[in-house]
Amino acid sequence: MTQVLELDPERPQKEAIELAASIIRDGGLVAFPTETVYGLGADAMNEQAVLKIFEAKGRPADNPCIVHVDSREMLDRVSASVGDKAERLIQTFWPGPLTLVLERNVDVAEPVSAGLSTVAVRMPEHRIALGLIQAARTPIAAPSANVSGRPSPTTAAHVFDDLGGRIDMILDGGATNIGIESTVLDVTADPPLILRPGWITQQVLSEVIGPVGLGASDQELQRSPGTRHRHYSPRAAIILVEQGTTEQLETICRHYLEDGSVGFIGYSKLAIDDASFFSINIGARAKDYAHSIYAALREIDQKNPGVIVVEGIRDSDEGAAVMDRLRRAASESAV
Ligand code: TXA
Ligand code: MG
Repeated sequence: MTQVLELDPERPQKEAIELAASIIRDGGLVAFPTETVYGLGADAMNEQAVLKIFEAKGRPADNPCIVHVDSREMLDRVSASVGDKAERLIQTFWPGPLTLVLERNVDVAEPVSAGLSTVAVRMPEHRIALGLIQAARTPIAAPSANVSGRPSPTTAAHVFDDLGGRIDMILDGGATNIGIESTVLDVTADPPLILRPGWITQQVLSEVIGPVGLGASDQELQRSPGTRHRHYSPRAAIILVEQGTTEQLETICRHYLEDGSVGFIGYSKLAIDDASFFSINIGARAKDYAHSIYAALREIDQKNPGVIVVEGIRDSDEGAAVMDRLRRAASESAV
């Protein structure tokens, strides 16, 4: 049985937070909203609890989890060596969607780091997430609360669809604000290296700490095992059109319609009138795409289309994080 509790995202009810925190302290699993996506949380210092996360998600054991803390003080329990650059980033961006890879303390349960000597940590901004960590009085390990390989959940309903019956509780705080996962920055590398692009961009990071690399080579990806695994994909094959006019998009959709039903997600309004054509329009800004893309992929996947055509956006600044997720989803789906 999975208990679902609805909470006010601005002023979460204390009793509900206390109940959820007691589940965490007892070694159970609680899904909760953050400002990026929903996370599936367990006590990061309890190995048995952390192993339950991997089992519930069907997550490969070599994919480490992000640890969530409520304060700079709590970070000391997770990592003993926070350098000068990390301190500056923490002052500037925490609480918020920036995850830092640091040297790991031995107290952190081993499966959290999947055998690495490092640990990924962030302090979320969402009041439900912060309230839960505070009440549990322990760092909380939490990957995104989806079945491994599916798009990250941005609503409690997404979490329930994937994990209902497999976890103890879901805290429902409505749709998440940002909609894509945090930036992951390895500050044990020199210069620091972005392992996963996110809402906090390379440009913005380098304004605070100087040069920042963008991980790309196989060797670099080795540092962030999660980026090697299948990710962000609905069931249908995704055709990502990185750049195209409305007419070109229509031609592509019509071509696939000859073989079966087609889903379309984009900002252009396509003039296609066909019972086998399902279209979801979202705003053209990176912010709109980040906020809506995972929900749109899940929604259109329920219509069971043969393919989903997705219209890309400009691959710069915040758009880079969105395009990173879309390219992975497209390359990993069986076309
Ligand atoms: O916004 C987010 O980051 C969300 C919310 C819930 O906080 N969490 C999230 O977790 O997206 P997850 O597990 O889906 O993605 C964690 C990413 C993976 O790519 C993983 O490989 C990487 O962080 N990671 C975790 N620990 C690492 C470590 N020690 N070294 C390098 N990469 C690490
Ligand atoms: Mg994930």
